[in-house]
Amino acid sequence: MLNETFDTVVLGGGAAGLMCAIHAASRGGRVLVLDHAKAPGEKIRISGGGRCNFTNTGATARNYISGNPHFAKSALGRYTPRDFIALVEKHGISYHEKTLGQLFCDNSARDIIAMLLDELAEAGGDLRLNTTLQSLSQNAEGFSAVLAGESTARVQCRNFVVACGGKSIPKMGATSLGYQLADQFGIAVTETRAGLVPLTFGENLLAEFREMAGVAADARISCGKTAFEEAMLFTHRGLSGPAILQISSYWQEKQKIRIAFLPGLDVCAALMNFKRENARKTIGTALGEVLPKRLAGFLTRLHGWSGVIGEMSDRKLTEIAGIVHGWEVLPVGTEGYRTAEVTLGGVDTGALNSRTLQANNVRGLYFIGEVVDVTGWLGGYNFQWAWSSGWAAGTAI
Ligand code: FDA
Repeated sequence: MLNETFDTVVLGGGAAGLMCAIHAASRGGRVLVLDHAKAPGEKIRISGGGRCNFTNTGATARNYISGNPHFAKSALGRYTPRDFIALVEKHGISYHEKTLGQLFCDNSARDIIAMLLDELAEAGGDLRLNTTLQSLSQNAEGFSAVLAGESTARVQCRNFVVACGGKSIPKMGATSLGYQLADQFGIAVTETRAGLVPLTFGENLLAEFREMAGVAADARISCGKTAFEEAMLFTHRGLSGPAILQISSYWQEKQKIRIAFLPGLDVCAALMNFKRENARKTIGTALGEVLPKRLAGFLTRLHGWSGVIGEMSDRKLTEIAGIVHGWEVLPVGTEGYRTAEVTLGGVDTGALNSRTLQANNVRGLYFIGEVVDVTGWLGGYNFQWAWSSGWAAGTAI
């Protein structure tokens, strides 16, 4: 077996791993990135509908879920969205803001992958694909890694960076190896679950909702004290759309979610107005003027509302407005890792140095990106964490 020596080996050629390798290599170290996939950055390629929502201009630690809400502050504060935008601009990649600070490539997510690979080549880092880690052990000089797959070798390195992501979308090559490595070195891993994922309904609710599949509406979705105001979508299995994906990261089993349609409108005042000015309209028609028609028809049938609005009592209209603004449903689950954008939980932040992402108990061992218990909201926050944590480790090595 071939014996090789590197300063740093990075496991995972995704967003965080490539960023880390660029900075570790540009400081003069011999760096090897290994990935079991055929191509690097596969999640970047499919992200943002193929245009990669590569950062969010407003990203701060407040936009992340973690056992320690302060943990992400250091990396995010030292490598900011502005720094990544400068890199994108240096490579002449054109981009636009879609909404809420979310920046997307004008052309293709592949531009971001090409940019990272150019930077890695320029810094002198090596990338080996179709290769994975068979075993990792600690020794006096650092780590000994046995590589398997296309590149079989025994590699000695001073630093080993775990950047192999979370469990979401196993079909794209997601594995639990990062968590297993943490476990091997006595590092705690917090409970993991699917995040930014559609919610599903049980058969009873589905029977009522099935006809609504494909209908979208703006809504404020809340769960406990957390709320997001964006679009939502009825699907064949439950609910999806940005507002639902956002709340899914906060939702716990057996918890109801509250849906407020027409979040910016005083629905009660609007219905009273209809009563005064369009007394002969049915309640269904009146609601259909402010809500998507299929949704208005559905709510009307579901709750048995009937009659013309002029004959309805103010009390009844207030009750209807209350439902439009506070409809509670009980999801039974999520679509799971099969479609989740991220994995909540992961390597316990208490075991890592927030400035360097190095494990407190194992010198030279680093965990970065999604494998760490830091999960961003929808909207470019997860890539920003990958860039910032990758940079923090890469510049500390
Ligand atoms: P990432 O998953 O990117 O990389 C891990 C790498 O490790 C992969 O290349 C994988 O092949 C490799 N690997 C895994 N196991 C291995 C093993 N056993 N051996 C060797 N290699 C191994 N975020 C955002 O901010 N904006 C967006 O637009 C989107 N859009 C989006 C769409 C979809 C469909 C998904 C699934 C996710 C997103 N995300 C997103 C989330 C974002 O993709 C994610 O948070 C980052 O890619 C995480 O970066 P990492 O480098 O940590 O993991």
